[in-house]
Amino acid sequence: MNPLSTLTSISQARDLLFNTLLTLTLFNLAGTADAQDRSAIPTFSRDIAPILQQKCQTCHNPEGIGPMPLISYRQVQPFAPLIKDRVTRGIMPPWHLDKTTGIQRYKNDISLSDAEIATIADWVDAGSPEGDPANLPAPLEIASGDQWQLADQLGPPDLIIRSAPYDVIANGQDQWWMPEVSFEGLDHERWLRAAEFKPSYPLGRKVVHHGHAVLIPEGERRQVALARYGVGKSFEIYPEGTGMRVPAHGTIAWNLHYFPVGAEGPADVVEVGLWFYPENQRPELETAGEVMMRVDGRNGMARGQDILIPPHGYQVLESTYVLDSAATIHSFRPHLHMRGKVMSMSAIYPDGRKEVLSQVNKYNHNWQIAYMYEDDVKPLLPKGTVLQFTSVFDNTVNNPLNPDPNQWVVFGRRGVDEMSHAWVGITYLNEEQYGRALSERRARTETLRVGTSE
Ligand code: HEC
Repeated sequence: MNPLSTLTSISQARDLLFNTLLTLTLFNLAGTADAQDRSAIPTFSRDIAPILQQKCQTCHNPEGIGPMPLISYRQVQPFAPLIKDRVTRGIMPPWHLDKTTGIQRYKNDISLSDAEIATIADWVDAGSPEGDPANLPAPLEIASGDQWQLADQLGPPDLIIRSAPYDVIANGQDQWWMPEVSFEGLDHERWLRAAEFKPSYPLGRKVVHHGHAVLIPEGERRQVALARYGVGKSFEIYPEGTGMRVPAHGTIAWNLHYFPVGAEGPADVVEVGLWFYPENQRPELETAGEVMMRVDGRNGMARGQDILIPPHGYQVLESTYVLDSAATIHSFRPHLHMRGKVMSMSAIYPDGRKEVLSQVNKYNHNWQIAYMYEDDVKPLLPKGTVLQFTSVFDNTVNNPLNPDPNQWVVFGRRGVDEMSHAWVGITYLNEEQYGRALSERRARTETLRVGTSE
């Protein structure tokens, strides 16, 4: 026998076997894929409605800030392709954090998991079937726009303060309303536990873009930022044992940014609800609240002088703050305008290690989101840590919010000008408080580690 022909026939036999196996495998795969598909096609009632309840309906309800309600099948089905588009591109729900770096656990995380995004996409691709309405979850109770969102958790506010009335105009440029209102709400100093900013409803909800209510105590040089608001951020609850010291008397400086959207009305009033610790309870830690850390106008320059973004170009700004005492950070809220794209906050520890704490890489000026750390992962920073902020402006056509990439862009308060700072919710700690917080955290991590290894 010709050895060569043997070889050929062996290889032929092997090919045949391989092909058979391949066919069998393919057949099997096709078989299982088919079986899986039929049971796995997501339906509105069973798979989609629960996701919409958890991640969308707080805004997409008849009274909410979302442009359409996403509750019943009839309401949702016509929007199916648009929903797939917005969720697969990461535009909805609004959550602009980079998921590949930094701390990822936040109290107010409304983002979708990859699995949820895939379920929504599969459902739309399958023709958005309704499924069996018997599988629908019980409907959510949605708080009306004129209720306090924190009331469910904390009851009605202990004190409500009000801005001076403002006549809202329908059209025109951005408006700033900065009345000073005297504060005589308390008999003696109290400790703030939570605060909520509530524009009037429904008008104020549409036109108040962001705002602050800052209390200037009588005869003291400090400022007490009671509440800061932006679309996407309306309340603050300090961790248990942490509070802000509120004096009995002073003046409240309101700073409200009204953005005309075609609706008008006389005498609009913004309210802030305040919740205090019980009368004689003094929380262990006094927080500074949200502190403004500038990224522009550092390095000895006047505010914003360093912002000069060329047409069709980029600019990167950086700033650093050395912590004179230990601190813990509760929240991170970047503030840029329409060319803003990225802002990161990193810690450079005294031993030289550097860590990204949080990075927003899809900044969108329409939203002012405070990323609120879960208590057991919030940054706990020793004295001497350097907080480093980096922001990136994108003035190219790639930035979907860019109103005009042909312009030079400089500093300014209007949305078409730029600025760059972060609001950092911070509580400074003395060495003893820091030591205690650190050992508590270590103990908890140790318990977790032991717990999982068992
Ligand atoms: C925090 C409030 C909020 C949440 C949560 C939210 N949305 Fe939205 N959504 C809005 C607002 C406001 C708009 C209109 C402005 C915009 O597009 O940014 C919008 C726009 C949309 C649009 C585009 C509508 C159009 O006509 O252009 C879709 C689709 C959408 N949302 C779907 C969703 C889905 C699906 C979810 C949940 C997975 C969700 N949204 C969660 C507030 C929200």
